[in-house]
Amino acid sequence: MAIQKGDLLYAGKAKSVFRTDREGIFLVEFRDDITAFDGGKKDVLAKKGSLNARVSAFLFSHLKECGIPTHFIEMIDERSMLVRSLDMIPLEVIVRNVAAGSMVRTYPIAEGTPLNPPVLVMDYKDDSRHDPMLNDDLILALKIVNADELARIKELAHSINRILFQFFESLDITLVDFKIEFGKADGQILLGDEISMDSMRLWDAGTGESLDKDVYRFSKGDVLAVYRRVAERICARE
Ligand code: CDP
Repeated sequence: MAIQKGDLLYAGKAKSVFRTDREGIFLVEFRDDITAFDGGKKDVLAKKGSLNARVSAFLFSHLKECGIPTHFIEMIDERSMLVRSLDMIPLEVIVRNVAAGSMVRTYPIAEGTPLNPPVLVMDYKDDSRHDPMLNDDLILALKIVNADELARIKELAHSINRILFQFFESLDITLVDFKIEFGKADGQILLGDEISMDSMRLWDAGTGESLDKDVYRFSKGDVLAVYRRVAERICARE
């Protein structure tokens, strides 16, 4: 699809979104920036953007094949994907299969405790407020979505978790937790944003080694080498 990149619409911490000359299609560029702790730690790692773009494209395609509606259209170069433009919903939808991260910092539960059934939480996406956790009543009171949309988001999040958990299990990787975002187009709710090593917590099933942004957050080693290894492991199914 020959398509022209247009004006910059929005620059986030690691991705930029551009308009295109096609109505309803945006271009998402995965940059080499990496940040953690609300932007308190920042670096630029050559090729990191293309590794996350490749993994996101692969996982969106896999989810689409499994019947999940997503914004993904196609990759046009190693760091740029065309997506359907969405009216984004300001929720960070987090699904947890194993206790880790903020869950063990906040609540009395040991890291590594399996969570069955998985735990779904939703945070209000607003860096200036440090993404406060919501509950159903707050989501409805703030009119972020209506009750039907909330039910659909939860159903999709659980389905996405089942599909991704099984996929990673087949690679001997435990999908500990991940964050996704949804948006609306033509009255339908679609999966948007990205699914990458920046937004998932992945542990090697054999060694327990981190294969995600925790390597960067907690200076556990060569984050680029880990991202490259895990991207190769994931995309070997292409
Ligand atoms: O990562 P942290 O401990 O700060 O937060 P968490 O609530 O434990 O994060 C759960 C999962 O969502 C992790 O895989 C994070 O990488 C991801 N997440 C994200 O991608 N973006 C956020 N703003 C918050 C969490």
